[in-house]
This record gives sequence, C-alpha cells and structure tokens, in this order.
Amino acid sequence: MLNLRDITIEIVKTAQETGAFILKESEKFDLSRTETKGLNDFVSYVDKGAEKMIVERLGHLLPEAGFKTEEGTIEKSGIRYCWVVDPLDGTTNFLHGLHPHAISIALMEYNEAIAGVVYEVGGNEIFTAWKDGGAWLNGKPIHVSKATNLASSLVATGFPYSDFTQLDEYMKLLTHLCKHSQGIRRLGSAAIDLAYVACGRFEVFYEYGLHPWDVAAGILLVREAGGSVSDFSGNEKNVEGEEIVAANSLVFREVLEIVSKFMKN
Ligand code: IPD
Ligand code: CA
Ligand code: CA
Repeated sequence: MLNLRDITIEIVKTAQETGAFILKESEKFDLSRTETKGLNDFVSYVDKGAEKMIVERLGHLLPEAGFKTEEGTIEKSGIRYCWVVDPLDGTTNFLHGLHPHAISIALMEYNEAIAGVVYEVGGNEIFTAWKDGGAWLNGKPIHVSKATNLASSLVATGFPYSDFTQLDEYMKLLTHLCKHSQGIRRLGSAAIDLAYVACGRFEVFYEYGLHPWDVAAGILLVREAGGSVSDFSGNEKNVEGEEIVAANSLVFREVLEIVSKFMKN
C-alpha cells in the first residue's frame, strides 16, 4: 500500500527542482530554439530537458510504474501504476516570455489519478492533491468557489488552435458564455485552469482537443477540492478523453447542460 501523502511530497520535490531549471532557462531563452511538432504545436529543449529530469527522479521513486509523457522521452508501461507527465504546460506562453506555465505530474493507479501536482513556476504556487486527502495550495487546504450560478462565474477555456473540427460550435458556445457569465479567461495552460477551479479563482473550465498529460493532475485537484468534472456528455472524465468541463459542484449542472447543448449538436 502506497503512502500517497509521502509520494506527493516527493513529487513536489521533483517539480521544484525541475521548476528551477525552467526558470533559469526562461531568463535566457531565445525563440529561435523552438521546434514545431504540428500545427501551432511547439516544443523546445527546455520541455525535453525538464521531462528527462522528471522521468529520472520519478523512475527512482516508484520503479514499477510506467510513464505517459508529452515529449515521449521514455517508453515504459506499468501494470498497476503509471506517471502522466507534462513537463511544461503552457509552452506557447513560455516561448513568448509569458506566464503562466506549469509542470503537471499525476500518478495513476489502473487509470485513476491517486496523486497529482501542478506547479505554477513563475508564481511559485504548488497545487497538490492525493486521493481522499484533499487539495492544497502551498500546504494550505483549498476548495472550489461557492458561486451558485453561471451569472456569478468566471469562466476559463482554451481557444481551439489546431483542431478546428468543432470551431463553429465552440464559437457559438463562447458567445453564449460571454453574455451569461462574469467573463472569460484564456490563460494558456489547462493544468493551471484546473488548479484555479480547485482553489476557487475560476468557477468553470472547459476545452476540447486535450491530452491526458494536460489534465490528469488537474482533474484530481478539482475533485479533491469539492468540484465536478466530466466530458461534454456528462460522462465522468476519463483522462484519455479529449473534452473536459470542470466546475464547482453548485454550477456544474447548469454549465454542463449549456456546453453539451452547443457542443453536441
Ligand atoms: C497546452 C495548454 C493549453 C491548451 C492546449 C494544451 P502545452 O499544452 O494546456 O492551455 O489550450 O490544448 O495542449 O502544449 O502547452 O503543453
Ligand atoms: Ca500541455
Ligand atoms: Ca507541454
């Protein structure tokens, strides 16, 4: 039986060491060192270097665990446990010298997140959660907001930038939300969007075209902080899914109904 609190403390140490590397490189980063993986999908030696540091440290922590990482610097499957890692979530922000950007690490047991850390490097904010252990920001407990309706909600999203298959539906939904919420934010890091729902800064986050490493840790944070997460059809989120709606549990039903009406037409 793993001690999830102790494991989370070790993940935090890994995130902090890696964050120091990212911060140091950000001071001298040159945009010409960007590589392109696909349409508007970028990477740099910083993402890859950070991932290697994380993989090496986590590999020692739990040798039987497999890895699913964004930059694919390791191929290893595990039967029971798997690390899901985004070494730099918010790469486009990083490349342009913007904040926020984060490290996102989750430990999965049979496809369910049991420990998760999102480290917002620039602001030195560490969001942590472990299964049935609550959610925390820099060691203090956090909870989703108490807003009771969309009209009193601040909504976060990610604008489509590469997968335009649902762009029309997305824009109609965005128009509706502009008119019926307190406002919309696009921070550029899904991991941080979820962490901010967990600590009550945002009431709602939704996006499509995501990957497991963007959301695995953040989903656990939201749930442990008292919020709800599903795909656009209301199915409880499986991290393999590409769509997500996350919200405090008081506005979740209202928002899900609207998202599914626009996106599932
Ligand atoms: C991206 C960020 C962004 C979201 C994209 C992700 P990356 O991750 O989370 O907010 O809109 O869908 O791919 O590429 O910066 O690791
Ligand atoms: Ca990402
Ligand atoms: Ca990334």
